[in-house]
Amino acid sequence: MKKLLLGILIGIAIPLVAAYLFINAGGMPVPTKGPPLPLERYIARTSIHKAMQGQTDVVCPLPADEPNLRQGARIYRAECAVCHGLPAGKPTATARGMYPRPPQLVRPDRTGVTDDPAGKVFWIAKNGIRLTGMPGYVDSLSEAELWQVSLLLVHAHELPASVQDILR
Ligand code: HEC
Repeated sequence: MKKLLLGILIGIAIPLVAAYLFINAGGMPVPTKGPPLPLERYIARTSIHKAMQGQTDVVCPLPADEPNLRQGARIYRAECAVCHGLPAGKPTATARGMYPRPPQLVRPDRTGVTDDPAGKVFWIAKNGIRLTGMPGYVDSLSEAELWQVSLLLVHAHELPASVQDILR
């Protein structure tokens, strides 16, 4: 029994010591340029998926009508476009310099988060995603504003002309 416990303790200690040595030897990449670490994508995707589980089926309380989409477009322009881009033009220098790269969300070739429910976009915009540069807007946008910008992204492939004008 004692040997088993000792084995378990050593088994736990070795990866911890290895991680400590790796970090102290400067093994963790800091610059934004460069490939992901082994397992980084898996850890990031799984953590995001788990954090959002059961929290994203909240139904949007607002209709996707023109006034709400127009308001969403104004918020998007002011707060999100620097990273997520506008329909025309190149991604900004800020977006191109980030790691991970922010997806361009309203471009004709990748119009929004069409497959995602509004509740998921709402969750991300409200809480942010730690260590990625994606801010959480819980303290700066109201619930209604968070829904409006979420509606904009979910409907980015079918925006009325008056809303497209705001993004031009
Ligand atoms: C400073 C840059 C920055 C700003 C400003 C920003 N984001 Fe992000 N956002 C990111 C990054 C980087 C990611 C990618 C995170 C990742 O890879 O997990 C992201 C991811 C997202 C995603 C997930 C996209 C997908 O395809 O899964 C959504 C939705 C989103 N942001 C919405 C918003 C909204 C809405 C705003 C404005 C209210 C906003 N973001 C402002 C950097 C930003």
